[in-house]
Amino acid sequence: MKGLILSGGHGTRLRPITYSQQKQLIPVANKPILFYCIEDLINAGIHDIAIIVGPNKEQVIETVQSVEWNAKIAFICQDLPRGLAHAVKISEDFVKTDNFIMYLGDNLLKGGSVDFIRDFADSKVDASLLLTEVEDPRQYGVALVDEQKKIIVKLVEKPKNPPSNLSIVGIYGLTPRIFEAIDNIKPSWRGELEITDALHWLIENGYNVRYGMVQGWWKDTGRTEDILEANRLILDQIGTENSGIVESGTITGQVKIGKNTIIKGNSIIIGPVIIGHDCVISGSTIGPYTSIGDSSHIIESHISDSIVMEGGRIDHVDRVSDSLIGKNVTLKKQEPSKEGKSFVLGDGSQVTL
Ligand code: TTP
Repeated sequence: MKGLILSGGHGTRLRPITYSQQKQLIPVANKPILFYCIEDLINAGIHDIAIIVGPNKEQVIETVQSVEWNAKIAFICQDLPRGLAHAVKISEDFVKTDNFIMYLGDNLLKGGSVDFIRDFADSKVDASLLLTEVEDPRQYGVALVDEQKKIIVKLVEKPKNPPSNLSIVGIYGLTPRIFEAIDNIKPSWRGELEITDALHWLIENGYNVRYGMVQGWWKDTGRTEDILEANRLILDQIGTENSGIVESGTITGQVKIGKNTIIKGNSIIIGPVIIGHDCVISGSTIGPYTSIGDSSHIIESHISDSIVMEGGRIDHVDRVSDSLIGKNVTLKKQEPSKEGKSFVLGDGSQVTL
């Protein structure tokens, strides 16, 4: 069994962060989302993985190669985000005649997908999808199932009148039959080759498409609020570890502190919180549900429910909450003597005062 992780796409819903950073590299609890996907495949016993890369491909390749993985990892370039089925189509030389798991590199699953992958490996089906119940199925790919036989009888993309409340999760068990299906579909109205159309072709042509249900939570991290929610869910199980120096302050709940990080000035850390290495936290209140990236300085500030990526400087700001703050961002209180407020903001920045 092989693994194919999709880490292309423009990530338009996460601009401006995704102008300079590929979505799948955004850190959740200080680890790129993509790493959770790679680890999940490896935990399921898959050691032959290819990653689809598109915009910012050098960044993705460099980040993945900065870690030693217990797997062979190749990269496949997609010229433009032409759809999930297009990403599969260009992977035919990698997949060859093997079965494979297609994993959307912006999806997070509690407990991972090991059981689903094992079930798929033991079955003789043509494809298997992971499903979960959602409140509003109209924004997802939706499946109608035959509960007795555990097969999918119909698939519809973002239906106005959903046939069920079962949404397709971004982890798919596929066989080389999918290539025949993709050859038989046309781009959708948005110009993309849709994987839902290819799977629907399999069903219509009498192939066996089964399903499994998500155990625990699943998060598609397409929007800022999803990333922050994923951060909360992962931090809930972060545990406690202190490799830093607490000069003065109080720490409660699950808190992880990295090497050479100094907590001082009577700071208050309210878990769950993760703080990277080489940070300075002085006179500040951090948490709950906050991830602070490496080499960040938080001075006389209050921050909760947020992600601050590496190199952040938050200086005399009271208070920051529900925020996703990119790399090397400075946020500081204006000197009282200045007449106007001065900003340096990149394209598409969002500031609420
Ligand atoms: P999407 O979330 O559908 O697309 P996107 O990431 O470009 O985001 P947005 O809608 O905000 O513009 O993509 C799902 C996953 O598949 C994501 O990890 C990106 C990846 N992908 C590719 O690798 N190639 C593609 O052609 C497409 C469409 C997506």
